[in-house]
Amino acid sequence: MDCTSGEQVSEGQAEEGNSAETPISKNQLKRLRKQKKWLESKGEKRKKEKEKRKRKIAEARARGESLGPTRKSLKENSMKNSACKIRVVIDCSFDKYMNDKDTMKLVKQIQHCYSVNRRSANPLQFYLCCSDGKTKERLDRIGDYKNWDVNFRDDPLWDVFEREEIVYLTSDSPNVLTELQPDKAYIVGGLVDHNHEKGLCHRLAEEKSVSHAQLPIGDYVKLNSRKVLTVNHVFEILLRYTETGNWENAFYQVIPQRKTVKLEVEKNTEPSDCIESEESEDIIKCDKNVQDIREENEDSKPKSETTL
Ligand SMILES: C[S@@+](CC[C@H](N)C(=O)[O-])C[C@H]1O[C@@H](n2cnc3c(N)ncnc32)[C@H](O)[C@@H]1O
Repeated sequence: MDCTSGEQVSEGQAEEGNSAETPISKNQLKRLRKQKKWLESKGEKRKKEKEKRKRKIAEARARGESLGPTRKSLKENSMKNSACKIRVVIDCSFDKYMNDKDTMKLVKQIQHCYSVNRRSANPLQFYLCCSDGKTKERLDRIGDYKNWDVNFRDDPLWDVFEREEIVYLTSDSPNVLTELQPDKAYIVGGLVDHNHEKGLCHRLAEEKSVSHAQLPIGDYVKLNSRKVLTVNHVFEILLRYTETGNWENAFYQVIPQRKTVKLEVEKNTEPSDCIESEESEDIIKCDKNVQDIREENEDSKPKSETTL
């Protein structure tokens, strides 16, 4: 029987020969049977998967491999229990500067921030200020995000923190961050703009008369691109810094190796526009190999060392 011909059969008819049931197409019937079969085999499949998982864990344990954090330890790594009291805020108020695709990328970056924070023994005090629609809507679609161990605020950050507490992070600031302080709230602009909105966060911080600073990248790492990092990279650098107190380690742990420049090739290399343009691959695969490249500060911009 050709189902494209629109021929209708009832489920009962097909299954039991009962013509009183609502007619359904052959395709629907196929789907129903498939669903029934799947439901019947679900329990068995789950059991097999569980056994397979157990076997893999036992094998990894036998090889002496690290199994990563357990569910129990993850639960204990809460912001409340954390020895780290540094507040890091993602300011999600830039919806109008992003198309749908970039909003989705931002949400992925936020998920990544959450994931690395959750896996840290001493997570940062993570805030999300989401007063805008699109980013919030996208976040709402992530089923479990409401259970995240994050301080969600529906208000703009200016209503959440005192002006004196705020340090807006921006690569355009002439101030360079030297350390992190618990009485400050470090703001990361929740923006994926492929550097189209140059200087936006710096202008915003100036307009609102709050402190601003760039990460001390130029003091430790030479990049083959400008110093505009993605939201998740900035977040993770701050997290790693709080773990070791060492900026250099933090940069090399987080910034993919391919984005750093070796001295030999440096002379002929024009910096590309910004690191941010390649951000999505970096979320999936971050090259964490540390290469020992120590160079003098290449930044020609005038800077003032600031403790913020
Ligand atoms: C993709 S960038 C957004 C770039 C945007 N054009 C702007 O005006 O900042 C996302 C955010 O990461 C933070 N960021 C990126 N690179 C940084 C750096 N080198 N130093 C400090 N913050 C940085 C800033 O908070 C920035 O708003």
